[in-house]
Amino acid sequence: MRSHYCGELNETHIDQEVELCGWVHRRRDHGGVIFLDMRDREGIAQVVFDPDTEESFAEAEKVRGEFVLRIKGRVRNRPEGTVNAEMKTGAVEVLGKELTILNRSETSPFQLDEYTNVGEEVRLKYRYVDLRRPEMLEKLRFRSKVTSNIRNFLDAEGFLDIETPILTRATPEGARDYLVPSRTHPGQFFALPQSPQLFKQLLMVAGMDRYYQIAKCFRDEDLRADRQPEFTQIDIETAFLEEQDIIGITQRMVTNLFRDLLGVDLGEFPHITYAEAMSRFGSDRPDLRIPMELVDIKDLMQKVDFKVFSGPANDPKGRVAALRVPGGAQISRKQIDAYTAFVSIYGAKGLAWIKVNDLAAGLEGLQSPIIKFMPDDVVQQLVERLGAEDGDILFFGADKEKVVNEALGALRVKLGEDLQMMEREWAPCWVVDFPMFETLDGGGLTPLHHPFTAPSCSVEELQADPQNALSRAYDMVLNGTELGGGSIRIHDQDMQQQVFRVLGIDEAEAQEKFGFLLDALQFGCPPHGGLAFGLDRLVMLMTGASSIREVIAFPKTQSAACVMTDAPGEVNNEQLRELSIRIRKPVAEEN
Ligand code: AMO
Ligand code: AMP
Repeated sequence: MRSHYCGELNETHIDQEVELCGWVHRRRDHGGVIFLDMRDREGIAQVVFDPDTEESFAEAEKVRGEFVLRIKGRVRNRPEGTVNAEMKTGAVEVLGKELTILNRSETSPFQLDEYTNVGEEVRLKYRYVDLRRPEMLEKLRFRSKVTSNIRNFLDAEGFLDIETPILTRATPEGARDYLVPSRTHPGQFFALPQSPQLFKQLLMVAGMDRYYQIAKCFRDEDLRADRQPEFTQIDIETAFLEEQDIIGITQRMVTNLFRDLLGVDLGEFPHITYAEAMSRFGSDRPDLRIPMELVDIKDLMQKVDFKVFSGPANDPKGRVAALRVPGGAQISRKQIDAYTAFVSIYGAKGLAWIKVNDLAAGLEGLQSPIIKFMPDDVVQQLVERLGAEDGDILFFGADKEKVVNEALGALRVKLGEDLQMMEREWAPCWVVDFPMFETLDGGGLTPLHHPFTAPSCSVEELQADPQNALSRAYDMVLNGTELGGGSIRIHDQDMQQQVFRVLGIDEAEAQEKFGFLLDALQFGCPPHGGLAFGLDRLVMLMTGASSIREVIAFPKTQSAACVMTDAPGEVNNEQLRELSIRIRKPVAEEN
């Protein structure tokens, strides 16, 4: 049907007869001449119809926005003064000779360049229209380049692309499962994979040596800008490689990707231990573009006459820390109130501060609601430890360690953005030496990664002190986003059982849930490990998108629904009967 894409026309095509297919981006009538901007995947071309070509002119008059056309015409230079330097095809136009309307369109639910005026719901409901926008198209095109680049890299490194089942058993990654009822086994359910974790480990037992998959994963969890219920991983597993090898290969993969597609040199990836990341940045995914760190002042605050600080300072699980914000003394009272409200989201009960107006003036030069509670020498030591300078503001957090880390960690990032403190565009790092377990509110332990991650200690040491055991896990972090995470796995049955015991999973339950894995560990399982990257997050960062929804063709809304297809939806009684399922209406509806 077509000889060229609209967007590829340029001066080399002058005087050629061309055939274009595409959508009417815009129609303008100018004194007896009709201009059609025709759009396809590659861009926009201007087509002109004049009344000399009677028949096609009459057709062109019928045309409306988003009609689908095929036109024939001749490429010519645009008249002097009408060249559009902003447009790829702006030096030329097509003098239209024939026009066929291939399909009509209702009035578009929104003009492509006025998408910001409609809510995201409308964009998602008419996603096929939204995706016609060049920005959206570019993001999907970029995503395709990313997967192709990664496939080429991994193919060259000897990785095999192997598919794993979607209808399977639960793979614990910390979220709820999406369940699928089985018709042939009444009352029984498949779980959609939260990740291919167990299958990729079994592929190592099978001797595949190096596996990868661009894999769909399903997690029923609270959604955020960087989380979808259905998302894609670049999933990797290897046998006979150590942490450093896996880190090396995947770092090269990401470095090459940024070089090839963005011309960016990511440079070194510093390794930071989990403990150090929490202490310096209050987060296990530190944004290293921001030149600010949390500083511990617990020791200084143990004897002060301010309960808010001395309480946590004397609590073994407490933390008292400060954040020095260079130039922050300009922050107004109103803004401080806003930041106080911001940290309260993370459970902070307040946000104490000191403005450093004039260090030379001693205490007189400091402005703060809290220094009156502190002996002069403590204030002096505080100022020295933080390296405070004139014009700074110091913010304080005092609470349980977790609250202080989350509150000041998030405040650090927010201030970094608000005050435009980002020192460079890209700051990758590896976070290593994670704890094996996290303590739940009820006192039990839960894996920080997943229960197949190998500890860096022996079975006996793990048994003796699980709380303090470290794991052989590693996360790649870029600009404060966790891009990927992985670990060396347990390949020894005793160790795997010990981890289950620590997690309170008894032998019967372990056998019931993971018997196939425990079996496989007995049939010649090699030492192995791997990692998975979030493809959506990677593309989001590389394209500068504000959410992963912007880089997924058909994403779900914040409430995990698809407004276009109206999924999830009800099913008819016959289907339910076949599945041996009876629906219990939510209580509110029954009443
Ligand atoms: P993990 O759970 O850390 O590890 O997931 C790996 C990466 O997947 C991305 N990710 C998500 N992206 C979008 N929406 C979500 N809901 C979502 N959840 C996770 C993140 C994350 O870093 N099996 C292990 C990997 C391994 O050990 O090899 C796993 O799934 O970028
Ligand atoms: P108050 O004595 O409650 O008026 O608090 C004095 C100052 O300490 C105020 O600036 C509060 O915002 C701040 N503050 C209160 N609780 C905390 C806390 N847990 N951590 C940090 N600052 C706090």
